[in-house]
Amino acid sequence: MKKRSVKRWSIATALAAAVAAMVLAVGCTPKKIEQGGETAAVDGTIDPAEWGKDYPLQYGLWKKTGESTPAGLSKYKKGNDGERIDKLDEYPFLALLYNGWGMGVEYTEPRGHLHMIEDQLEIDPSRYKAGGTCLTCKTPYAPVLQQRMGKDYFSKPYKEVLAQIPKEHQTLGVACIDCHNNRDMSLKYSRGFTLGKALDQLGVDQSKLSQQDMRSLVCAQCHVTYSIPKDADMKSTGVFFPWQGSKWGGITIENIIKQLRNNPPSGEWTQSVTGFKMAFIRHPEFEFFSNNSVHWQAGVSCADCHMPSTTAGNQQVTDHRIMSPLKNDLGACRQCHSESPEQLREKVYSIQDKTMSRFIRTGYATATVAKLFEMANKAQAAGRQIDQNLYAKARDHYEEAFYRVVFISAENSTGFHNPAEALRILADAAGHAGKADGLLRQALAGAGVNVPATVDLELAKYVNNRGAKKLMFKPEHEIKDPLPAEKY
Ligand code: HEC
Ligand code: HEC
Ligand code: HEC
Ligand code: HEC
Repeated sequence: MKKRSVKRWSIATALAAAVAAMVLAVGCTPKKIEQGGETAAVDGTIDPAEWGKDYPLQYGLWKKTGESTPAGLSKYKKGNDGERIDKLDEYPFLALLYNGWGMGVEYTEPRGHLHMIEDQLEIDPSRYKAGGTCLTCKTPYAPVLQQRMGKDYFSKPYKEVLAQIPKEHQTLGVACIDCHNNRDMSLKYSRGFTLGKALDQLGVDQSKLSQQDMRSLVCAQCHVTYSIPKDADMKSTGVFFPWQGSKWGGITIENIIKQLRNNPPSGEWTQSVTGFKMAFIRHPEFEFFSNNSVHWQAGVSCADCHMPSTTAGNQQVTDHRIMSPLKNDLGACRQCHSESPEQLREKVYSIQDKTMSRFIRTGYATATVAKLFEMANKAQAAGRQIDQNLYAKARDHYEEAFYRVVFISAENSTGFHNPAEALRILADAAGHAGKADGLLRQALAGAGVNVPATVDLELAKYVNNRGAKKLMFKPEHEIKDPLPAEKY
């Protein structure tokens, strides 16, 4: 792959962008995979070691996702630095907002792929209450189990479904078979029952996907948001991607929220502070990135940045040690950008700092609204008259703010995948939180309740003694506003 200067493209005209996309499409088209004759992996082989017999270099790199990377290489994503990091310690307002179910108990940052099931087994058991359905974006056995067990796959207890997997593979995470066709090693996704269906909803013709599309879609099997719809007994009935009404390259937050709010079965949990039944948003990397980001428009794929070309055993191969580009000396970026790693790092941090600052402020504003609802609910229970119209309007704005905060908190690039979109989403979230705040204060004042200017969030109540492990707040992990207002 030739290194070229991105400056050539920096004239920000539509024409330049189109040319850039073309240059990229040609320059970065991955080489055709050489067939190594007979493949050890016969149809349906899940064991990566079998595939590794033919492709030892890729297998070796893939295995390295089990190693941690030196601490401190990334400012905000420290999940693979060795020590486990919990988002609830990093952002204490999330402990308040997510209180009421597993996400508010333990919510660790992602780390290397090899750990995915091991981490599920280590986490507070409240997190896999939903049942076998939780294995969907973890085990390579998911498609087989879903076919074999039907509805039971989703609803049976997690451990019971896990026990259906051969013992030696019970902690095996994403494997070769999840991304490759064993016959010619071309890219394929193995989760037609989730991603395939969701692509149908977008109206995508799955027979016409390009190689670049596939280099993102193999990741979109898991790095997407989903809900777990429940039946009347709160048993899981499937996995649902809230993509209806969206289009390829434009799965918007507005539409995701609309789908979640219009589908009562998406209400998976009850937020304890407000008493509201809520849906949730998880790791929406694909949705966020593909919604018209600069890189998406330029034809860049997930694999371009997370699986660059590398040298192993004197050969050029695709780096199967998937990780943060910041931990890989930004080598991936330098296929297309001519800046030094230091300059690129500064650019990434500049984007992330702006996102982080807005995220933290909006998160606290939204948590404050949750506490105002708590006050209003208490006042009502004590017999005071809360204006129902104001309350309903406030709730509407609150939910709009809440889901936007969850979206940005769950998206794992701290804004980098789509910088402008992150700031737009957070600005809207702040607007909704502000409106909800005003409406609730009006309703509370009308009911004769005195509301202090600064509401006590009682964070200690939410960050301490969490779950079966009685997890305590780790202040050393808290991430503080990198651009505090008083400095500007
Ligand atoms: C396959 C090529 C490719 C790769 C890999 C790539 N970029 Fe880019 N990048 C582009 C193109 C094309 C643009 C748009 C250039 C323009 O419009 O001037 C761009 C734009 C950017 C911008 C400006 C974004 C904006 O919102 O205005 C930043 C910052 C950036 N890239 C950083 C990175 C970093 C950091 C990496 C590695 C993690 C990376 N890029 C990887 C091709 C690439
Ligand atoms: C089968 C589901 C699945 C697929 C497919 C998948 N991922 Fe992941 N990915 C995960 C899970 C789960 C984690 C978190 C693992 C943990 O924390 O134990 C993760 C973690 C990561 C991380 C963080 C790694 C670190 O070192 O902290 C990156 C980066 C990543 N994935 C990128 C990708 C990219 C890029 C693709 C596509 C080429 C991809 N993933 C495909 C499920 C998947
Ligand atoms: C998360 C998805 C993912 C997983 C898991 C994965 N690969 Fe790949 N693999 C890719 C992508 C993306 C490429 C680049 C394809 C292209 O050229 O566009 C690739 C390329 C390859 C190639 C072509 C040569 C090269 O290095 O570019 C081989 C061979 C290969 N992978 C083997 C394996 C083996 C063996 C495993 C399991 C140990 C595995 N892969 C697991 C995504 C994956
Ligand atoms: C232009 C380059 C680029 C593209 C394209 C890209 N990413 Fe990223 N990604 C990054 C950067 C930079 C970060 C921030 C890493 C950090 O803060 O350490 C990141 C972070 C992540 C993380 C969190 C990593 C961690 O260590 O916890 C995941 C997961 C991830 N990306 C998955 C994806 C997926 C899935 C896609 C495609 C839908 C994608 N990325 C597309 C550059 C890219």
